[in-house]
Amino acid sequence: MDIKIEKGNIVDATSDTIIVNLFEGVTVPGGATGAVDAALGGAISDLIAGGDFKGESGEITVVYPRGAIAARRVVVVGLGKADGFDLEGVRRAAAAAIKRARDLNARNVASIVHGAGIGGLDVAAAAQATVEGSLLAAYRFDADKKKEPQNDVQTLTLVEYDGERIEAISAGAATAVAIAAGVSLARDLVNMPPNVATPSRLAAAAEKIASDHGFNVIIGDREWAAERHMGAYLAVAQGAGEPPKFVILEHNADRTDLPTVVLVGKGITFDTGGISIKPSERMGDMKSDMGGAAAVFGAMETVGRLNVPLRVIGITPCTENMPDANAYRPADVIKASNGKTIEIISTDAEGRMVLADALVYAESYKPDAVIDLATLTGACVIALGGGVAAGLFCNDDTLKDRLLSASGATSERIWQLPLYDDYRRSINSDVADMKNSGGRFGGVGTSATFLREFTNYPWAHLDIAGMALSEKAGDYTPAGGTGFGVRLLVSYLQGMERSK
Ligand code: BES
Ligand code: MN
Ligand code: ZN
Repeated sequence: MDIKIEKGNIVDATSDTIIVNLFEGVTVPGGATGAVDAALGGAISDLIAGGDFKGESGEITVVYPRGAIAARRVVVVGLGKADGFDLEGVRRAAAAAIKRARDLNARNVASIVHGAGIGGLDVAAAAQATVEGSLLAAYRFDADKKKEPQNDVQTLTLVEYDGERIEAISAGAATAVAIAAGVSLARDLVNMPPNVATPSRLAAAAEKIASDHGFNVIIGDREWAAERHMGAYLAVAQGAGEPPKFVILEHNADRTDLPTVVLVGKGITFDTGGISIKPSERMGDMKSDMGGAAAVFGAMETVGRLNVPLRVIGITPCTENMPDANAYRPADVIKASNGKTIEIISTDAEGRMVLADALVYAESYKPDAVIDLATLTGACVIALGGGVAAGLFCNDDTLKDRLLSASGATSERIWQLPLYDDYRRSINSDVADMKNSGGRFGGVGTSATFLREFTNYPWAHLDIAGMALSEKAGDYTPAGGTGFGVRLLVSYLQGMERSK
């Protein structure tokens, strides 16, 4: 879907479909919606007066002008109550409207920017949210495109009457296009079957991002990792048939004068559990165990498109976790690249193993902040719910506050959980510096405490186990890979950029 911006009156738009909106409780529509209502002889006011349309959040009504204006159909979307209306309301409204337009086979759609009129939201932010909600809702995974007849909306034109707002709208829309590209990339990578989205395929995706945006890229193979003594990462890769790839993307690599943020993403392309094999029921969901890596790639794609004025590094240790004659086993003792030793309790606690060496490697960039994203524990999903919120662990208040504010701005929910020392005691080992599992209780806290052993900089860990893959569609997220984390990371980086 192409995005265009036009100055003018939406009443005159030549698109086949136009989108206007209405707050709940409004009886006489104003602004652009009022202009369309007047041109249609009061058709929208009539629907309101008759109780046929209330303007509730996500409610849609379609009005047919039959020649009264150029457009064939008018989609009116409810915004809900004006009180408390926010950017998430804008994304939802835009998504509901574009989905209906698509279902009606609309090709060219014109829309007003939701929320920038009586909604009172910042114009650029409202335009960004309108385009974000539209593009994210219209997302389709390529493989699905083959089996369904195409009825995708081709262009979405934002129409604005006030010429002074055009610049802000264009800027907001351009940001949204860059963000949606990152989210779509992350969704695509998660949606690919695990025999396609192999470590090599993820490395190829990284190489494309690098060549598109002039990043440095390092694709470390087994030997590369062995030279760097990455015993924890290599232990997991030991049983993998697919060659492991330790992938690094560097944006503004030489600009050590800029604030440096390292993004680390767990890249287990399929998690069988290894020798501590998982039950077969729903094991296929473990194709999403590279959701952290996908979020990092998505964020890097957006960083490149926006040319974010920060030094941003993406590190994604990628491998399968397979049972095999060479696989690592429970009771093995493994040495990570910082010299710490790990007693293996469960080969299914593999995410923390690959992250350990990645977090140690992150140190070499002298980072101002390191954020890792990982589909790390079922315990986090038990604690917070599936699709509800990611767990946040953080050793630095400034970083935590910035992440929480990015979470508020994007509605990608994160919820802070504690890093108590008690959790460290539960991974005490008699034969090594630590165990890789602390048992059943407090499983999310022990996993984060394990990771902390490999960090010595401001660090945040996001457990996205319940967030990367969704069985159900959300307001602007089709079922499947969600791209969770991309918008959060980009918003965090933008906050960092502003405070520089
Ligand atoms: N990839 C899983 C965690 C997971 C669970 C992700 C559900 C998405 C949905 C992870 O590698 C894992 O197996 N964790 C174990 C850890 C345990 C062995 C200490 C778990 O959560 O059971
Ligand atoms: Mn596992
Ligand atoms: Zn895993």
